[in-house]
Amino acid sequence: MATIALAPGVTLTPGYLDRAAQEELFCAVCTVITEAPLYLSRMPRTGKPLSVRMSNCGPLGWVTDEAHGYRYQATHPESGRPWPPIPNVLLRAWRELGGYALPPEACLINFYAPDARMGLHQDKDEQDFAAPVVSLSLGDTALFRVGGSKRSDPTRSVRLVSGDAVVLGGQGRLAFHGVDRILPGTSTLLPEGGRINLTLRRVTRPN
Ligand code: SIN
Ligand code: MN
Repeated sequence: MATIALAPGVTLTPGYLDRAAQEELFCAVCTVITEAPLYLSRMPRTGKPLSVRMSNCGPLGWVTDEAHGYRYQATHPESGRPWPPIPNVLLRAWRELGGYALPPEACLINFYAPDARMGLHQDKDEQDFAAPVVSLSLGDTALFRVGGSKRSDPTRSVRLVSGDAVVLGGQGRLAFHGVDRILPGTSTLLPEGGRINLTLRRVTRPN
């Protein structure tokens, strides 16, 4: 499948999931969020809510709140229950795109309502940067911004369409990235609109 280099170590595979695979993944995500509902995360210290709603699947999940900041934990912060397992369709994507011997330990689920966004940031709460981050998009198109590993590096903006995959690996593992905005009404996949982004990660350092 054709890939496009967005920055060193950052690749885009347009249309990685066809419509049937997107529907399968959307169904799997619905099952996960029935068990582990989307919830409002808060920024460290200020407690300001993030505009995306989040959940996770896998042995570990990424969470943030006012008191304890950014971290990974094995349980849902509201229910206290373990995160549901990572669906097979996502494990397959990790195997095909990730090029990493061990399975993912965490999958963050971000739900973007039409007015949600995500500021420019690095994924750096993991102990192991040798493993890539594999990202899949479902639903409405996002204007995704990506740059280099310094905040001051130049950035470019690219549209991520439902079914697209992005991999941040190697030199691109710590690339700054974010979502400037969602383009409402650009996909029929989610019955009520909006966008879902799934990011698969390793968290711990292998022994
Ligand atoms: C993220 O950085 O966690 C999400 C990126 C995206 O929504 O494409
Ligand atoms: Mn990120």
